[in-house]
Amino acid sequence: MAMQYQLNDGPLGAYVRGVDINHLTPDGFNFICQLLHDRGVITIKTDGMSEVQQIDFAKRFGELQKNFLDDSLDNRFPELLIVSNILENDKPIGSTDAGRFWHTDGAYLSTPHSVSMLYAVEVPFANGKALGDTSFISMGAAYEALSHETQQQIESLRGVHSLHFRYATKSGSVIGTEELKKKFPPVSHPLAISHPVTGRRCLYVSEGYTTSIEGVDDIQGQRILDQLLNHIKQPAFCFRHSWSVGDLLIWDNLATLHLANFDYALPLRRLMRRATVSGQSLG
Ligand code: SIN
Repeated sequence: MAMQYQLNDGPLGAYVRGVDINHLTPDGFNFICQLLHDRGVITIKTDGMSEVQQIDFAKRFGELQKNFLDDSLDNRFPELLIVSNILENDKPIGSTDAGRFWHTDGAYLSTPHSVSMLYAVEVPFANGKALGDTSFISMGAAYEALSHETQQQIESLRGVHSLHFRYATKSGSVIGTEELKKKFPPVSHPLAISHPVTGRRCLYVSEGYTTSIEGVDDIQGQRILDQLLNHIKQPAFCFRHSWSVGDLLIWDNLATLHLANFDYALPLRRLMRRATVSGQSLG
Protein backbone atom coordinates (compact mmCIF):
# COMPACT_ATOMS: atom_id res chain seq x y z
CA MET A 1 0.00 0.00 0.00
CA ALA A 2 1.32 3.47 -0.84
CA MET A 3 1.68 6.05 1.91
CA GLN A 4 -1.60 7.84 2.62
CA TYR A 5 -2.35 10.58 5.09
CA GLN A 6 -5.32 12.44 6.47
CA LEU A 7 -5.28 15.76 8.33
CA ASN A 8 -7.43 16.44 11.38
CA ASP A 9 -9.53 19.55 11.71
CA GLY A 10 -7.73 22.30 13.60
CA PRO A 11 -4.03 23.09 13.84
CA LEU A 12 -2.76 19.69 15.02
CA GLY A 13 -2.65 16.08 13.94
CA ALA A 14 -2.41 13.84 10.89
CA TYR A 15 -2.92 10.10 10.48
CA VAL A 16 -0.51 8.25 8.21
CA ARG A 17 -1.05 4.78 6.78
CA GLY A 18 0.98 2.55 4.50
CA VAL A 19 4.39 3.54 5.89
CA ASP A 20 7.00 0.81 6.13
CA ILE A 21 9.22 2.48 8.69
CA ASN A 22 11.92 -0.16 8.17
CA HIS A 23 12.33 0.72 4.51
CA LEU A 24 11.46 4.39 4.39
CA THR A 25 13.37 6.17 1.61
CA PRO A 26 15.04 9.54 2.33
CA ASP A 27 12.18 11.23 0.42
CA GLY A 28 9.61 9.31 2.45
CA PHE A 29 11.36 10.29 5.67
CA ASN A 30 11.54 13.96 4.61
CA PHE A 31 7.82 13.84 3.92
CA ILE A 32 7.16 12.50 7.44
CA CYS A 33 9.38 15.25 8.95
CA GLN A 34 7.59 17.94 6.96
CA LEU A 35 4.18 16.62 8.02
CA LEU A 36 5.34 16.47 11.65
CA HIS A 37 6.50 20.08 11.61
CA ASP A 38 3.37 21.26 9.79
CA ARG A 39 0.94 19.39 12.04
CA GLY A 40 2.78 19.24 15.41
CA VAL A 41 1.75 15.63 16.02
CA ILE A 42 1.24 12.73 13.64
CA THR A 43 0.15 9.13 14.10
CA ILE A 44 1.64 6.37 11.99
CA LYS A 45 -0.69 3.37 11.98
CA THR A 46 1.48 0.23 12.13
CA ASP A 47 0.80 -3.51 12.23
CA GLY A 48 3.34 -3.83 15.04
CA MET A 49 6.82 -2.60 15.70
CA SER A 50 9.68 -4.10 17.73
CA GLU A 51 11.80 -2.15 20.17
CA VAL A 52 14.72 -2.23 17.72
CA GLN A 53 12.54 -0.93 14.90
CA GLN A 54 11.29 1.91 17.09
CA ILE A 55 14.83 2.84 18.15
CA ASP A 56 16.18 2.69 14.59
CA PHE A 57 13.34 4.84 13.31
CA ALA A 58 13.66 7.36 16.17
CA LYS A 59 17.39 7.67 15.46
CA ARG A 60 16.60 9.03 12.01
CA PHE A 61 15.34 12.18 13.77
CA GLY A 62 18.58 12.64 15.76
CA GLU A 63 20.52 11.30 18.71
CA LEU A 64 18.35 9.60 21.32
CA GLN A 65 18.39 10.78 24.91
CA LYS A 66 17.91 8.38 27.79
CA ASN A 67 15.36 9.38 30.43
CA PHE A 68 16.57 10.06 33.99
CA LEU A 69 13.97 7.61 35.39
CA ASP A 70 16.38 4.64 35.44
CA ASP A 71 13.83 2.28 37.02
CA SER A 72 11.38 2.90 34.18
CA LEU A 73 13.71 2.21 31.27
CA ASP A 74 13.32 -0.93 29.19
CA ASN A 75 15.79 -3.46 30.65
CA ARG A 76 17.15 -4.48 27.30
CA PHE A 77 16.73 -1.18 25.44
CA PRO A 78 17.44 1.72 27.82
CA GLU A 79 16.82 4.21 25.01
CA LEU A 80 13.13 3.43 25.59
CA LEU A 81 11.12 4.68 28.56
CA ILE A 82 8.29 2.36 29.55
CA VAL A 83 5.08 4.25 30.33
CA SER A 84 2.62 1.88 31.96
CA ASN A 85 0.30 1.14 34.86
CA ILE A 86 1.26 -2.56 34.85
CA LEU A 87 2.77 -4.12 37.98
CA GLU A 88 5.04 -7.15 38.03
CA ASN A 89 5.77 -8.65 41.43
CA ASP A 90 3.94 -5.64 42.89
CA LYS A 91 6.41 -3.26 41.23
CA PRO A 92 5.58 -0.87 38.36
CA ILE A 93 7.26 -1.97 35.14
CA GLY A 94 7.57 1.65 34.01
CA SER A 95 6.64 5.22 34.76
CA THR A 96 3.10 5.26 36.17
CA ASP A 97 2.50 8.99 36.02
CA ALA A 98 4.32 10.28 32.92
CA GLY A 99 2.21 13.02 31.39
CA ARG A 100 0.19 13.80 34.53
CA PHE A 101 0.46 17.58 33.86
CA TRP A 102 0.58 19.54 30.61
CA HIS A 103 4.26 19.60 29.65
CA THR A 104 6.93 19.21 26.99
CA ASP A 105 9.44 16.41 27.44
CA GLY A 106 12.75 17.53 28.94
CA ALA A 107 11.74 21.18 29.55
CA TYR A 108 13.94 20.92 32.67
CA LEU A 109 17.03 20.47 30.47
CA SER A 110 19.07 23.32 28.97
CA THR A 111 18.51 21.56 25.62
CA PRO A 112 14.95 20.12 25.70
CA HIS A 113 14.07 17.16 23.47
CA SER A 114 13.17 18.05 19.90
CA VAL A 115 10.95 15.08 19.04
CA SER A 116 9.21 12.37 21.09
CA MET A 117 7.69 9.14 19.89
CA LEU A 118 5.25 6.95 21.82
CA TYR A 119 4.29 3.48 20.64
CA ALA A 120 1.16 1.68 21.89
CA VAL A 121 1.70 -1.95 22.92
CA GLU A 122 -1.44 -2.27 25.09
CA VAL A 123 -4.38 0.14 25.23
CA PRO A 124 -7.06 0.07 27.96
CA PHE A 125 -10.51 -0.47 26.57
CA ALA A 126 -13.96 -0.34 28.25
CA ASN A 127 -17.52 -0.24 26.92
CA GLY A 128 -16.28 -0.27 23.34
CA LYS A 129 -14.06 2.75 23.88
CA ALA A 130 -10.31 3.19 24.13
CA LEU A 131 -9.17 4.96 27.31
CA GLY A 132 -5.91 6.71 28.23
CA ASP A 133 -5.97 9.23 25.36
CA THR A 134 -3.10 11.67 24.95
CA SER A 135 -4.00 15.35 24.45
CA PHE A 136 -1.94 18.04 22.70
CA ILE A 137 -1.86 21.83 22.45
CA SER A 138 -0.43 23.74 19.49
CA MET A 139 1.88 26.30 21.05
CA GLY A 140 2.34 28.04 17.68
CA ALA A 141 -1.41 28.58 17.26
CA ALA A 142 -1.61 29.66 20.91
CA TYR A 143 1.19 32.21 20.43
CA GLU A 144 -0.38 33.61 17.24
CA ALA A 145 -3.72 34.11 19.01
CA LEU A 146 -2.17 36.28 21.75
CA SER A 147 -2.80 40.01 21.49
CA HIS A 148 0.08 42.01 20.04
CA GLU A 149 0.38 43.70 23.43
CA THR A 150 0.87 40.36 25.25
CA GLN A 151 3.34 39.16 22.61
CA GLN A 152 5.35 42.34 23.25
CA GLN A 153 5.03 41.96 27.03
CA ILE A 154 6.54 38.46 27.05
CA GLU A 155 9.06 39.02 24.25
CA SER A 156 12.14 39.27 26.44
CA LEU A 157 10.90 37.19 29.39
CA ARG A 158 12.27 33.78 30.34
CA GLY A 159 10.39 31.05 32.16
CA VAL A 160 12.14 28.97 34.84
CA HIS A 161 11.61 25.20 34.45
CA SER A 162 12.30 22.65 37.16
CA LEU A 163 12.23 18.88 37.44
CA HIS A 164 12.02 19.16 41.22
CA PHE A 165 8.89 21.33 40.88
CA ARG A 166 7.25 18.68 38.65
CA TYR A 167 7.89 15.73 40.91
CA ALA A 168 8.40 16.90 44.48
CA THR A 169 6.12 19.95 44.50
CA LYS A 170 3.31 19.02 42.12
CA SER A 171 3.22 15.22 42.53
CA GLY A 172 4.58 14.94 46.07
CA SER A 173 6.76 12.14 44.72
CA VAL A 174 9.97 10.78 46.15
CA ILE A 175 11.46 11.09 42.66
CA GLY A 176 12.21 14.77 43.24
CA THR A 177 15.05 14.05 45.67
CA GLU A 178 17.86 16.41 46.63
CA GLU A 179 20.24 14.38 44.47
CA LEU A 180 18.10 14.93 41.40
CA LYS A 181 17.73 18.57 42.32
CA LYS A 182 21.51 18.90 42.14
CA LYS A 183 21.76 16.89 38.93
CA PHE A 184 18.99 18.89 37.22
CA PRO A 185 19.05 22.44 38.59
CA PRO A 186 16.32 24.79 37.28
CA VAL A 187 16.92 26.16 33.78
CA SER A 188 15.37 29.05 31.92
CA HIS A 189 13.99 29.27 28.38
CA PRO A 190 12.31 32.18 26.58
CA LEU A 191 8.53 32.31 27.12
CA ALA A 192 8.24 32.67 23.34
CA ILE A 193 10.73 30.67 21.25
CA SER A 194 11.51 30.63 17.55
CA HIS A 195 11.19 27.00 16.53
CA PRO A 196 14.68 25.76 15.48
CA VAL A 197 13.37 24.03 12.33
CA THR A 198 10.33 26.02 11.18
CA GLY A 199 11.18 29.42 12.69
CA ARG A 200 7.55 29.62 13.88
CA ARG A 201 7.04 31.55 17.10
CA CYS A 202 5.71 29.25 19.81
CA LEU A 203 4.87 29.75 23.46
CA TYR A 204 7.13 27.72 25.72
CA VAL A 205 5.51 27.35 29.11
CA SER A 206 3.90 24.44 30.93
CA GLU A 207 1.94 23.53 34.04
CA GLY A 208 4.30 20.65 34.70
CA TYR A 209 7.66 22.39 34.77
CA THR A 210 7.39 26.21 34.67
CA THR A 211 7.80 27.59 38.16
CA SER A 212 8.33 31.32 37.72
CA ILE A 213 9.60 34.04 35.40
CA GLU A 214 13.22 35.08 35.67
CA GLY A 215 13.69 38.55 37.16
CA VAL A 216 9.94 39.09 37.74
CA ASP A 217 8.56 39.08 41.28
CA ASP A 218 6.63 35.94 42.23
CA ILE A 219 3.15 37.47 42.31
CA GLN A 220 3.47 39.30 39.00
CA GLY A 221 5.27 36.27 37.43
CA GLN A 222 2.50 33.91 38.56
CA ARG A 223 -0.11 36.27 37.13
CA ILE A 224 1.57 36.18 33.71
CA LEU A 225 2.00 32.39 33.86
CA ASP A 226 -1.66 31.85 34.88
CA GLN A 227 -2.80 34.07 32.04
CA LEU A 228 -0.73 32.11 29.51
CA LEU A 229 -1.65 28.69 30.94
CA ASN A 230 -5.37 29.56 30.75
CA HIS A 231 -5.00 30.93 27.23
CA ILE A 232 -3.30 27.83 25.77
CA LYS A 233 -6.06 25.44 26.90
CA GLN A 234 -8.66 26.84 24.51
CA PRO A 235 -10.25 24.02 22.49
CA ALA A 236 -9.21 25.71 19.22
CA PHE A 237 -5.54 24.87 19.96
CA CYS A 238 -6.14 21.32 21.26
CA PHE A 239 -6.19 17.82 19.82
CA ARG A 240 -6.90 14.53 21.60
CA HIS A 241 -5.53 11.25 20.28
CA SER A 242 -7.54 8.07 20.92
CA TRP A 243 -5.16 5.12 20.85
CA SER A 244 -5.18 1.80 19.01
CA VAL A 245 -2.57 -0.88 19.53
CA GLY A 246 0.21 -0.36 16.96
CA ASP A 247 -0.11 3.45 16.84
CA LEU A 248 3.18 5.29 16.69
CA LEU A 249 2.52 8.83 17.84
CA ILE A 250 5.27 11.34 17.01
CA TRP A 251 5.20 14.89 18.29
CA ASP A 252 7.19 18.04 17.71
CA ASN A 253 8.13 18.51 21.32
CA LEU A 254 9.01 22.21 20.95
CA ALA A 255 5.80 23.23 19.21
CA THR A 256 3.32 21.31 21.38
CA LEU A 257 2.42 20.48 24.97
CA HIS A 258 0.95 17.10 25.86
CA LEU A 259 -1.04 15.50 28.65
CA ALA A 260 -1.91 11.88 29.45
CA ASN A 261 -5.54 11.20 30.44
CA PHE A 262 -5.74 8.94 33.50
CA ASP A 263 -9.32 7.70 33.02
CA TYR A 264 -8.50 3.99 33.47
CA ALA A 265 -7.01 1.74 36.16
CA LEU A 266 -5.96 -1.88 36.60
CA PRO A 267 -7.12 -4.44 35.65
CA LEU A 268 -7.29 -2.31 32.47
CA ARG A 269 -3.71 -2.26 31.25
CA ARG A 270 -1.84 0.43 29.33
CA LEU A 271 1.66 -0.14 27.98
CA MET A 272 3.60 2.38 25.88
CA ARG A 273 7.24 2.75 24.84
CA ARG A 274 8.69 6.23 24.47
CA ALA A 275 11.82 7.40 22.63
CA THR A 276 13.03 10.99 22.85
CA VAL A 277 15.41 12.82 20.53
CA SER A 278 18.00 15.28 21.85
CA GLY A 279 17.41 18.94 21.19
CA GLN A 280 19.29 22.21 21.33
CA SER A 281 19.32 25.43 23.30
CA LEU A 282 16.19 27.52 22.73
CA GLY A 283 18.05 30.82 23.04
C1 SIN B 1 4.28 11.34 28.16
O1 SIN B 1 4.03 12.35 28.78
O2 SIN B 1 5.31 11.23 27.53
C2 SIN B 1 3.31 10.16 28.18
C3 SIN B 1 2.02 10.51 27.54
C4 SIN B 1 1.03 9.39 27.64
O3 SIN B 1 1.31 8.37 28.29
O4 SIN B 1 -0.05 9.52 27.08
